Amino acid sequence: MTSAASLSLAPEVETPVSSAVRRGILSRPKRLPPWLFYDEAGSRLFERITELPEYYLTRTERAILTTHAASMIAQAGDGARLRISELGAGSAAKTCLLLNAAIERQGAVRYEPIDVSASALRAAARRIECEVAGVTVAPRVMDYTNGLGFEPRREGERRLVIYIGSSIGNFEPEEAVRLLRRVRAAMDPGDAILLGADLVKDRDVLLDAYDDAAGVTAAFNRNLLVRVNRELSADFNPLAFAHRALWNSAQSRIEMHLESRRAQNVHLAALDLTVHFCAGESIHTENSYKYAAGQLQSVLERAGFEPDATWNDEQHWFAVTLGRA
Ligand code: AVI
Repeated sequence: MTSAASLSLAPEVETPVSSAVRRGILSRPKRLPPWLFYDEAGSRLFERITELPEYYLTRTERAILTTHAASMIAQAGDGARLRISELGAGSAAKTCLLLNAAIERQGAVRYEPIDVSASALRAAARRIECEVAGVTVAPRVMDYTNGLGFEPRREGERRLVIYIGSSIGNFEPEEAVRLLRRVRAAMDPGDAILLGADLVKDRDVLLDAYDDAAGVTAAFNRNLLVRVNRELSADFNPLAFAHRALWNSAQSRIEMHLESRRAQNVHLAALDLTVHFCAGESIHTENSYKYAAGQLQSVLERAGFEPDATWNDEQHWFAVTLGRA
């Protein structure tokens, strides 16, 4: 049983965090949105996740890009000069592979990273400018999940939009199609999108990637409670919640949960809310969808792109697909 007593805050003190937490914690089953993971500590923990032996996603996608960046750039440009936009601030290592391939082909490149976080963009811009000679970085602060506008491109140029890292997997499939439709609407015919996504594979490989031996993913998951404590004056005891990763085969997704180890009440002072947790009750914090081979192409088609080419690793664990607007 869950009980909650709530007095609404005055609308002017509601923030995106307070309204998302209020909505999620009062819903049944309880949930919190995954964008809450990425405060400063959470972003650092995510960087550590990408280096874990169990988290094959980053190194597998990086290997695909290392082998095929030149073909991807050639295919995307199709004879025209490219400018590159990226959704998300981008991980320097993977983005640099594509930027270097573009510079190799056309001498210089304009790169427009788009992210909701100005500080993440500043850090990405600094890294890229230091590591890639010949790139002009034009960062844009924007929540691309709500709306999108690219800087205009020059006559004769084509735009390549990079959306890698399997970020698309954190959206519900229908939401993913809607997001890509909005991206498509901001592009011109002949432009291209490069979409990186994780694929369905052996259950144990998937589970280990989201429940690593060193406990970094558990800390990443629990950091969400640390953030809610700090930003909403709550009194979650993060260690009173167990990190759970499970494979939902019917939905083809890894789910992350925080499971209450015992019956307990949590007070969220800034929301004037006390929430009860039964022993074993969980907060659903993330879905990470795993696509079947071919399914990415159909997502792209439904969003108005023509699938052009797909590059995989040898094990077919990950796919990078080029779609043409
Ligand atoms: C950012 N995103 C693609 C990661 C994923 O694999 O779904 C987030 C993550 N969650 C736990 N580990 C990594």
